[in-house]
Formats: sequence, C-alpha cells, structure tokens
Amino acid sequence: MKIAVVGGGSTYTPELIDGFARLDADINELTLIDPAAERLDVIGRLAARIMRRHGHPGRVTWTSDLDAGLTDADAVIIQLRVGGQSARISDETFPLDCGCVGQETTGAGGLAKALRTIPVVLDVARRARLRAAPGAWIVNFTNPTGLLTRALLDDGHRAVGLCNVAIGFQRRFAALLDVAPEQVTLDHVGLNHLTWERGVLVGGADRLPELLDRHLDTLADHVGLPPEILSGLECVPSYYLRYFYSHDRVVAEQRGTPSRGQQVADMERTLLELYADPNLDTKPELLAQRGGAYYSEAAVGLIGSLRRGDGAVHAVNVRNDGTLPFLPDEAVIEVSCRVDEDGAAPLPVRPVGPHLSGLMAHVSGYEELAVQAAVHGGRERVYQALLAHPLVGQHDLAQGLTGRLLAENTAHLGWA
Ligand code: G6P
Ligand code: MN
Repeated sequence: MKIAVVGGGSTYTPELIDGFARLDADINELTLIDPAAERLDVIGRLAARIMRRHGHPGRVTWTSDLDAGLTDADAVIIQLRVGGQSARISDETFPLDCGCVGQETTGAGGLAKALRTIPVVLDVARRARLRAAPGAWIVNFTNPTGLLTRALLDDGHRAVGLCNVAIGFQRRFAALLDVAPEQVTLDHVGLNHLTWERGVLVGGADRLPELLDRHLDTLADHVGLPPEILSGLECVPSYYLRYFYSHDRVVAEQRGTPSRGQQVADMERTLLELYADPNLDTKPELLAQRGGAYYSEAAVGLIGSLRRGDGAVHAVNVRNDGTLPFLPDEAVIEVSCRVDEDGAAPLPVRPVGPHLSGLMAHVSGYEELAVQAAVHGGRERVYQALLAHPLVGQHDLAQGLTGRLLAENTAHLGWA
C-alpha cells in the first residue's frame, strides 16, 4: 500500500510516521508532499530514520510535486495549513478586536481558515481523483475538518474527516476505568469541534455515570469547563465547547496571553532544529506539547479499517443522511461509525436533547453557509455565514468581522 501525505512537511508529521512505523505493516511506500522543500527534506529524512528504527521495510519518499506524489496512492492523508502559523495567528487575534473568541476552527477565525483552505483542498482532491489508485480514500485532517469534509463530499470525493478529540477521550476514559482502550466505545455525537461524550460503553455497560461520579473535577478540569456543566448535561463536552459555554471568559483570557499560534510557531522552530539532528530517530518529547496526541493512531486505525474492512468503530466526520433527524441530510456530523471498505456508517444514535440539538443545528446552519462562501466567494456570503454563527449573530458584529477577516486574508482570497 502506498500512502501519500499532503502537507507532509508539517512538524506534526513525525507523530504520524511513528504510528505507521509501529502499527501498520502493510505500507510499502509513504510519500510526503509539501511545497516547502527545505523543511520537507528535514522531515523526510527523519521519517525514514523513524521507519528504520522500528525495522519497518516501507520506503519513505518526499516531493514538492503534488501530482507525482499522489500517483498510485491507495490512501491520501491531507493535513495542510494554508498561510502557515502567521495566518493562524491572524485567525486567533482579529476577532478579539470585536469582542469575539479568537480561535483557528471556531467562530470568525475558523471561517477565515475555511475560506483559505477549502479551494486548496478541493484542488488536491481533484488531482488525487486523476492520479491516485482507483478507489483511494481521502482521510482529511485539515481544519476545520467538518467544513472541509462537507466540501469534499459535495464535490463527490471518497473522503472521511478525522479529528483526535474522540480518540483522546477514549484513551482518557480507558485509563480512568483501568481497561484497554479498544474495550471502550464512545457515544460521541456532534459536529467536528462541537462534540459531547454521552456514553462510555465497556462490554455493553455505560460507565459514564460512574466516571462523572468519581472523576467529575478531573474531567471538568481537562475540558476547561465548570463541573456543573458536565453534571447538568450528564455528558462530557469537548474542550472546544469552552468557546461557547465560557465565551466571554475565554475572550478575557486570550486578550492577556500570546496566541496559541505564536506558542506553536516558537515550538516549531525548536522542533525543526531537533529534527535536523541525523542521530534523532524518534519523535521528540516536545511534540507531546502539541494538541495532536493519538492522531497517528486514529489515522492508522481508520485507514486499516477502510482497507481491510474490519468493521471497527471510529469516530469520524460523515454525511448526516438522517442519523440526526434535526439536521439536513447533507450536513456533516461527527459520530461513532462502523468502518469497512465502503466507508463509515454511523452507529444508531439515541435521541439528542435540546441543549445539544439546538446548538448543533445552529452551527450546522453556519457551516452550510460557510462552505458556500468558500466555494463561491464574495463579501455578502462571508457576512451571511457570520450572521448565522451563534457566537456572532448580530448585524454590526458580522459586518465588522467581515471587514477584518477580508482585510487580513487578501493575499489568500483571490476575490477579496
Ligand atoms: C486538537 C484538535 C486539532 C488541532 C489541534 C491543535 O488536536 O483536534 O484539530 O489541530 O488540537 O493543536 P496545536 O498544538 O496546533 O494547538
Ligand atoms: Mn480536531
């Protein structure tokens, strides 16, 4: 099997390679693709050393020629970042001037990222359709993953969207319950970066009530929310729900601290220095400070199931198609799915209460308009998407944010 990684020059890539080197014996070629040739060379060499250290016979290759890299790939992982960390820093800061959360996937910052990214990822996917092996799957990690997956599916690609939030919870709950992670199936429901864990099934029994009872403060602390929210909703929201349930508090915090993108840019400089050491053949400790824990294991597991059809359960981004009755069929949702060669099929979802369904419906409406804005462009579409977002909602705010967003992104948006 050949795997192509678009955005393979990312400083995250060693995490991914570590997973493939340890866990996926089927790979005979892993191709990293990235326009940043110098960085790609550093990452490519390290990737080859990591594979060798694990005695993995697979070949690691790297190229800045997208079409060449995609050729004959059996699976294509897309993990790119248009505009690099400086665009991320912009996404995380311009909304603050309007009193709104500064975040790379949520709110106005997330919209900016989607506008920059969707056309680029669609171009990659269209090239993959021409070059990759017949039936190749696209596994999209590129944020905002829900929006990207929706755009990819609308364009007719064989795509699944993946995020590490669910696997992170699975591992955390397993550790608290002292069981193996594979024994834990989550009742994970929502949209990407807007999800709630409503059940933690181990051998058919829901252990979530016990977790909330015994570890409430630990779990609340982990997601940065008051314990009352977890006990009141009887579920564990992801830490992205903090941007909704504690919006104003987060804005106040963000105003006094350097943005996450700034911290990551600093970390990346150090990581690249470490990666350049020809004796390094593992992912360094510092990488654990990034948010991508377990993303390699999520990718290896998902690609394995898509290829081997083992029917394992993975929480992924898929078309709604009636799974959540309060959302349109075309919406993209993130739920636990059974995965085989034909793709991901949602497990049945028990009824969703009004707190969750209301917010999901609201954000899903925004997502529909956001994809329209990214695909067709135009200031009015950007404004409409922002007006529809629950964290914006007001005319003056939507107008102000539209102006700021477009001014910050002229270099990336041909139409702005
Ligand atoms: C989590 C999210 C990812 C996001 C990452 C950010 O893993 O699921 O979608 O990219 O956090 O981590 P960073 O280290 O870049 O802040
Ligand atoms: Mn994610």
